[in-house]
Amino acid sequence: MQETREPKHLKHLFDANRAWAQQMETESPGFFAHLTAQQKPEYLWIGCSDSRVPANQITGLMPGEVFVHRNIANVVLNTDLNCMSVVDFAVDVLQVKHIIVCGHYGCGGVEAAIHGNTTGAVDHWLSGIRDLWEENFDTLSMLDEQAARARLCELNVSQQVKSLSRSTVVREAWARGQDLELHGWIYGITDGLLRDLDEHRTAPD
Ligand code: CO
Repeated sequence: MQETREPKHLKHLFDANRAWAQQMETESPGFFAHLTAQQKPEYLWIGCSDSRVPANQITGLMPGEVFVHRNIANVVLNTDLNCMSVVDFAVDVLQVKHIIVCGHYGCGGVEAAIHGNTTGAVDHWLSGIRDLWEENFDTLSMLDEQAARARLCELNVSQQVKSLSRSTVVREAWARGQDLELHGWIYGITDGLLRDLDEHRTAPD
């Protein structure tokens, strides 16, 4: 067992952590010993960094049950080494059965892409969503502003699932017959509920 030192900063988080670890062991003795032995999650979650959309909590999944990648506005870029490494490891090593791309309504990243009020790295990061806004401007501009934003959040999920389905890792997994399903979901911050956007894919286009 590693030595536990008294934390000098953010002590309340360490206190909460200790209480949590104790509760987990009480409810399920041997919980951490079991997790140490193996990591075998069935799901990879690609979601937004938004603090209101925590993957494990909203799906009721325990540590060890979901592999997670989060970035601003749940973007899947084939040129993003970070995201692609996560997908690669999840598919090739962990052999996850499902990849869930989960967006959320009221996504600040999506809204920033519409308003163009970002600068620097974030502005660059959101350029694909801005393109999506422009490509769909004719249909989106028929909606009221709130509905248009919500629709763009959904379109963004669809776009990222498509991008994922075209990634080398996913295409190669399907080519060798590996069971791998892609899903596109969206989460409502106002009601805490997930919705399936019917973007289920099990094969290339
Ligand atoms: Co967001």
